[in-house]
Amino acid sequence: MRNKYAIANWKMHLTKSEVLKYAKNFVCPTLPDNKHAVVCVPFPYLDLALTHLNKIAIGAQNCADHASGAYTGEVSAMMLASMPIKYVIIGHSERREYYQETHNILIKKIKLALENGLTPVFCCGESLAIRESRKHNEFVAQQIKNIFPSFTHEELTKFIIAYEPIWAIGTGKTASTEQAEAMHQHIRNAIAEFSQSLADGISILYGGSVKSNNAKELFSSPNVDGGLIGGASLQPDQFIEIIKAL
Ligand code: PGA
Repeated sequence: MRNKYAIANWKMHLTKSEVLKYAKNFVCPTLPDNKHAVVCVPFPYLDLALTHLNKIAIGAQNCADHASGAYTGEVSAMMLASMPIKYVIIGHSERREYYQETHNILIKKIKLALENGLTPVFCCGESLAIRESRKHNEFVAQQIKNIFPSFTHEELTKFIIAYEPIWAIGTGKTASTEQAEAMHQHIRNAIAEFSQSLADGISILYGGSVKSNNAKELFSSPNVDGGLIGGASLQPDQFIEIIKAL
């Protein structure tokens, strides 16, 4: 049975006092061994989250593409691992678009994450223009093909994939259950070109306006193994309901 995940992505939201308030109101539901809840917080709150958010794994939203050294403002995978953080989001469309992260940069980040024992949550997904031109299947498969050949089979088994159509992120416009399932199946087929066992075992999460009222339906699709949740994860009661929908 594949692992299922509800991963919160707080992005650049909340102040320190809001994080503490969140922690007071957040009681993570007890989960069976194959289901996992994670909160990816901004760097300055990692320690706070580790201390105050109980029974939930803490992740980061990014890591540097260099191991260490004179890179002002950057945070290395080794630093994260020393906290200890277990997960890191890599290749979110906001980082690809606003910070010009190319697939070569993403490969370096994932390598460093894996070397430090972190689980990379690798994001892929197409823009509205690509979807409307009906090139979305080809585009997303290519995002996988740009990355996967740089890793061994053993390394690839550590990946979590998050499919996030850019047109559904923060827009309130969720992909339909059919659209999500079709793309997840397509991604799994693209991964099967590397290895069938890898494709069968890898968790593929859906992200893009997941809320407590649509999570159950989205997560019930055979190829959707949970979600990466932005906006709705900022409210503890919403995120708790989404975790329960796993
Ligand atoms: P959203 O963001 O849930 O606010 O659409 C998802 C994401 O970007 O990870």
